[in-house]
Amino acid sequence: MVEPAPFQQWLAAQASTVDPFDHIREASEAHRQQHGAACTVYPTSRAPLWGVIAGAIRPNRILEIGTGLGHSALWLAYGAPEADVTTIEADPVHAALARANVRKAGYADRIEIVNARAIDFLADCDEQVDIIFCDCDVDEYGDYPTHVMRLLRVGGLLITANLFAGWYTPGMPGLDAAVAYRDRVLADPRLLSTFLGANAISLRTP
Ligand SMILES: C[S@@+](CC[C@H](N)C(=O)[O-])C[C@H]1O[C@@H](n2cnc3c(N)ncnc32)[C@H](O)[C@@H]1O
Ligand SMILES: [Zn+2]
Repeated sequence: MVEPAPFQQWLAAQASTVDPFDHIREASEAHRQQHGAACTVYPTSRAPLWGVIAGAIRPNRILEIGTGLGHSALWLAYGAPEADVTTIEADPVHAALARANVRKAGYADRIEIVNARAIDFLADCDEQVDIIFCDCDVDEYGDYPTHVMRLLRVGGLLITANLFAGWYTPGMPGLDAAVAYRDRVLADPRLLSTFLGANAISLRTP
């Protein structure tokens, strides 16, 4: 294995030091070891960046798909102090742990955790949102773009993680759905998209 360069080591240490929710990121990693092989709580390393971006566009409504234990939802709410965050989590154990983390961090009034499969929630939702952060298992991704385009306001941002999940876990279920999602997002003329690592950032244009 190649040793990280000194600046990378410094950045990693610094990121933990300045993250007010770092204990939840660490708890997420520990939780996955205990919960078993099917657990997909992998907190994004980009949560602070999503928080900064959210703050810059001053959203009122943020929708997150894939709560995990609440680390990225807290960063979105922290970065955008005028926003309410709704975050969808299919696993009841994760939803309960996330609720406890959010309450303890003092954000229970601004972060709502919904225990549901994302596709069911999206199908019932008709509220316009300013930001969608999509970070769940990819097997349902193929059905998301229609809902995303319906719910995301013009000028809003779609951030999508896990778009190259097959690179890390070849043969995992749902990779076709991730590819279909990626192709649709890239081909949609209403989305101005770029990639940051395995994440797509897409601006909703008219
Ligand atoms: C990568 S983790 C989310 C990490 C979180 N966004 C963070 O950075 O702290 C993915 C989460 O999505 C949940 N999940 C997977 N498929 C889902 C689905 N179809 N609907 C809702 N949640 C789902 C998993 O149980 C897991 O907790
Ligand atoms: Zn778990």
